[in-house]
Amino acid sequence: MSHKFVITGGAGFIGSNLAQALSQENPEDSQISIVDDLSYGKAENLAGINAQLLRGSITDLPFLRTAFEGADCVFHQAAIASVKKSIEDPLRTNEVGIAGTLKVLTAARDAGVRRVVLASSAAVYGSSLDLPKQEDMIPEPMSPYAVSKLAGEHYARVFQEIYGLETVVLRYFNVFGPKQDPSSEYSGVVSRFITAILKGEVPVIYGDGEQTRDFVHVADVVAANILASRGFRPGVYNIANAKSTSLNDLVEMISKILGRDVSPRYEVPRSTDIRHSLADISRARSAGYSPNCSIEEGLKTTIRWYCR
Ligand SMILES: NC(=O)c1ccc[n+]([C@@H]2O[C@H](COP(=O)([O-])OP(=O)(O)OC[C@H]3O[C@@H](n4cnc5c(N)ncnc54)[C@H](O)[C@@H]3O)[C@@H](O)[C@H]2O)c1
Repeated sequence: MSHKFVITGGAGFIGSNLAQALSQENPEDSQISIVDDLSYGKAENLAGINAQLLRGSITDLPFLRTAFEGADCVFHQAAIASVKKSIEDPLRTNEVGIAGTLKVLTAARDAGVRRVVLASSAAVYGSSLDLPKQEDMIPEPMSPYAVSKLAGEHYARVFQEIYGLETVVLRYFNVFGPKQDPSSEYSGVVSRFITAILKGEVPVIYGDGEQTRDFVHVADVVAANILASRGFRPGVYNIANAKSTSLNDLVEMISKILGRDVSPRYEVPRSTDIRHSLADISRARSAGYSPNCSIEEGLKTTIRWYCR
């Protein structure tokens, strides 16, 4: 059977890795369309991938309606994926993250799309100190970005209940891997540490470095999306590695792989940073998800990509 997939935000880090996997999986039978306004993503992330780039914004409903025609599944990755940017410009985050997501769901419903898989974030758990994070905990978003993700989750559930559009929400924890853009101060810490160390610069840690994160390689996130497009029952799922790594350990692991002796510089902690983050992934596991890439292996593939 032939399938058409649409990936919003498909020129970005996670979306382009997903496009690559989907195009390799079923080269004959699948058609992949990428909806991206290239505000943060890059067309070069799609080089060599058999996918059609439709340049436009998820805030443009008529454009989405055309883009989604005939699609079986929409992977909704587009967002202004930054807590800092959402604090600087909450209205823009609202426009893309909430109104844009609502338009994605509306266009999917109208085009008869079977299922929408939405990228959410561990940021929805916010300040709660309870660990590990389970999907049914009460969310405590601490930024406009987290609010936008939570609103998207609610819209997804409501569209499922009212209109029968199947929706699966994936709450990603700290994703890392090839194609992650290290250019912003607030982009993924793994990409920033690797590129700083490769350039001979000192990596900067906000706080004492003993804060922990649940780092998950993009290959596992991509696998979760593909599973979610088929087997997962509609609902919300944590997607992570279920392992805790401190930022100090992360710097040490990267330094060891690169064979360098590196001491980070410590700066004042940021007010929106949580101390610890760790996922309970039993719900996703029972639906068939299993993280396959260890942090060490994932760091090696990521470093190879930055050194290419
Ligand atoms: N990277 C992570 O660690 C992480 C963690 C949790 C959740 N997420 C979520 O995963 C998704 C993908 O994140 P990413 O890390 O690949 O980010 P990214 O910035 O690399 O990709 C996002 C893409 O969305 C596009 N985009 C932004 N606004 C748009 C608009 N109005 N219309 C069309 N396209 C638009 C950007 O150009 C970019 O290509 C996002 O929804 C993000 O919030 C990411």
